Amino acid sequence: MLSAVKRMTELELSGKRVVIREDLNAPIKDGQITSDKRLRAALRTIQFAVERDARVILLSHLGRPAEGASDRAFSLEPVADRLSQLLTSPVMFVKDWLGGIEVEPGSVALCENVRFETGEKANDEVLARRMAALCEIFVMDAFATAHRSQASTCGIARYAPVACAGPLLIRELDALSKVLENPARPLVAVIGGAKVSSKLSVLSALAGKVDQLIVGGGIANTLLAATGIDVGRSLIEPGRLDYCKSLLAGKFGAASIPLPTDVVVANGLERDTHGTIKLTRDLTNDDMIFDIGPETAAGYCDYIDRAGTILWNGPMGVFEHPEFVHGTRRMAEAIAAGKAFSVAGGGDTLAAVEQFGVGEAISYISTGGGAFLDFIEGKELPAVAVLKERA
Ligand code: 3PG
Repeated sequence: MLSAVKRMTELELSGKRVVIREDLNAPIKDGQITSDKRLRAALRTIQFAVERDARVILLSHLGRPAEGASDRAFSLEPVADRLSQLLTSPVMFVKDWLGGIEVEPGSVALCENVRFETGEKANDEVLARRMAALCEIFVMDAFATAHRSQASTCGIARYAPVACAGPLLIRELDALSKVLENPARPLVAVIGGAKVSSKLSVLSALAGKVDQLIVGGGIANTLLAATGIDVGRSLIEPGRLDYCKSLLAGKFGAASIPLPTDVVVANGLERDTHGTIKLTRDLTNDDMIFDIGPETAAGYCDYIDRAGTILWNGPMGVFEHPEFVHGTRRMAEAIAAGKAFSVAGGGDTLAAVEQFGVGEAISYISTGGGAFLDFIEGKELPAVAVLKERA
């Protein structure tokens, strides 16, 4: 599959205007970047082009601003400053870039948020052609935005003189393909998070691919409720109970789905709240589940210890709260300690990886959230599809 695209590393870049689409959509609070993981992930690609004397022009979005006007809250300026520090050389920040920009060979410019431009989200052809006119070579490296069919991810790739894949995009696709195409068995997926509805198609797809589907968070609550257990006031999606029954009945595939046998409950999420461990069969109508219990975590860890390959997306509970951190921590530590090839992705998952300091021990950490889920679901990412057409 990947042999079907041009690669940036195989092209002559010297002196060329090279536009690289990165996903520099980093969390920013009060003008400060709170996690520079996505910036660090892009560094190798940028450095490669700089070392080959390319005139590097970076494009990215940040957040979801309204199109057609600039908005300081969504400006990439803090990202340019942080990138300059990480690259240890200045990154020129360009507010007004669509008409063309001058960049010296071996230098880097970062353009203001592509989502300020009208037509970005709709993949407008006129806008895409103007973006394409900035470069001789377009490099798609933004795996985390490759599921978006937008002017700076897809349209530009169609109209640029040359369109190729960057090293980060290739690393991401390689790691995820390794999990899905011929994984060492057992293949275990650990899927958590608040809502069944946001992961419906992923759960269905994984049920047909993995050996065990381990669940936590609101997803586990809704599955428990679908078996007839009274989960009290816990977060569930009543509209998804029938779906959950079908999933548990094997309608989408034969994966075994072990459900929590104990959980941690409380009355709320105040800072001084105390959690109580309860067997799921003893839950009462006043309980709210905020984590899996120790017996469940031990059972889940057994599957993780025996796994050949692990795919992890989503926490087991409200891991930001000290009373409800244990389930997610045990999963993270078991995945890190095991011999399996492990891949983790998604915003909350990466926050958990960071909180528990297990990043080094996980085989691959994806920069993708939605793109990661779409890929594991088996969907073709539109920005990758265009690169294949342009190969
Ligand atoms: C992400 O954070 O998942 C990517 O940057 C894509 O952002 P989007 O969901 O706003 O397109």
